[in-house]
Amino acid sequence: MADRSATAPGTAAATDDFLSIRSIDHLEFWVGNAKQAAFFYQHAFGLAVTAYAGLETGVRDRASYVLQQGKVRFVFSSPLGPEGFMAEQIRLHGDGVHDIALEVEDVDRAYKETTKRGARRVQEPTTVRDDQGEIRRASVGTYGDTVHSFIDRSKYRGAFLPGYRDTGSKAADGPLLYVDHVVGNVALGDMNKFVAYYRDVMGFAQFQHFDDKDISTEYSALMSKVMADGSGKVKFPINEPAPGKKKSQIDEYLEYYRGPGVQHIALATNDIINTVSRLRDSGIQFINVPPSYYEMLEGRVGRIQEDKGQLAKLGILVDRDEEGYLLQIFSKPAQDRPTVFYEVIERKGSRGFGKGNFKALFEAIEREQALRGNL
Ligand code: FE2
Repeated sequence: MADRSATAPGTAAATDDFLSIRSIDHLEFWVGNAKQAAFFYQHAFGLAVTAYAGLETGVRDRASYVLQQGKVRFVFSSPLGPEGFMAEQIRLHGDGVHDIALEVEDVDRAYKETTKRGARRVQEPTTVRDDQGEIRRASVGTYGDTVHSFIDRSKYRGAFLPGYRDTGSKAADGPLLYVDHVVGNVALGDMNKFVAYYRDVMGFAQFQHFDDKDISTEYSALMSKVMADGSGKVKFPINEPAPGKKKSQIDEYLEYYRGPGVQHIALATNDIINTVSRLRDSGIQFINVPPSYYEMLEGRVGRIQEDKGQLAKLGILVDRDEEGYLLQIFSKPAQDRPTVFYEVIERKGSRGFGKGNFKALFEAIEREQALRGNL
C-alpha cells in the first residue's frame, strides 16, 4: 500500500495560488493534417468546428481548426510547408499536444511569477486584437516541448482568438462536459522534478500519489503523482516508468513520442454508458477488458447504480474509494504512433483516478503493446 499520509484526496491546498486559473482554456495539438484531424474529432468524438484560421483568414503559414463540445475545446494546427518550428516538432513527435492553455485572470502576473520561479520563457505577454476585442497571452514551457499558455479573454467576444473566423457553429451539446485531467509522461527519474515544477513554479499542490506497488503488472511498473491547482479543478498527473522485467507503456510512449509529452486526456461525462455507446458506434476503439474483471467487480466495489452487464459489454471500469466511486474507460492511441490516448470518466463522488483498476488496465494495455512488438 502506498504511503498516502500526505496525499489523501482533498488535502491539496496550494500555499500561494498566484496563477488564479479559471479553467483549462484549450488544448492545442500540432498535427500532420489538421483538416483530417478535425474531421475525426468532429465525427468520431462529436465535437463541433467553431472557429478556423488559415489562408482564407489571412494566415499564411498554418491552418487551425477549433473544436468544442461542452467546455472541451481542442485546436488542431498544421503548418502549410516544411519550414519552421511547428513542422520540426511534428516530424519529431508525430501528432501530439503542444499547448495546455490555461485561462487566467492576470497574464502578466502569471508570466512574471512563473518565470521568476524558473519557468522556461516561451512567449512574452502580448496583446492580440481584432474587431471582436482583444486578448492578452503569454507562454511558458513544461515537460519536454509542451507549453502552458496563459490567456485572458475577458475583453474578447469573438469565437476563439483574434484572427480566427467564427464558423457559425456553437460548441456541441454533450455528452462530453470538460477536461477532467491531462496526464504527462516524463523520463525515468524525472517525475519528482516536474512535481517540484508544478509546486514551486506554478503554485500547485500534490493531490495523490501512486507508486510502483499500486501500478505494476508481472512485467512492468510506473509511478504517478497528481498535481492540482489551488481550486483543485485543474489536475495534471505526472507519470514516470519504474524498472520492470519488460518495457513499460511509459517507455513505449517516450520512445515513439521521442521524449516527454501528454499521454492521455480525460474527458468528463455524466452518463458514461450513453457516451461510450455513442463513441463506440462512431468508431472510437477502446482497450479491451477481460471478462474476469467483471466477475470480481461486485466484491471489489460493492453496489453501484449502473447495470453490470452493460458495463461489461462496453468495457467500462469501476473503482471505489472512501468518497464514492468512478467509472472510466481508456481508448487506444488516437494516431499511428502509440502515444496520446483518451479516457472517458464519470465521477460518482470519487475524486480519485481509478487506482483499483490499474493492474487490470495495464495488463490489458500490455496485451496491445505485445501486439505492436513493443513489450
Ligand atoms: Fe486518467
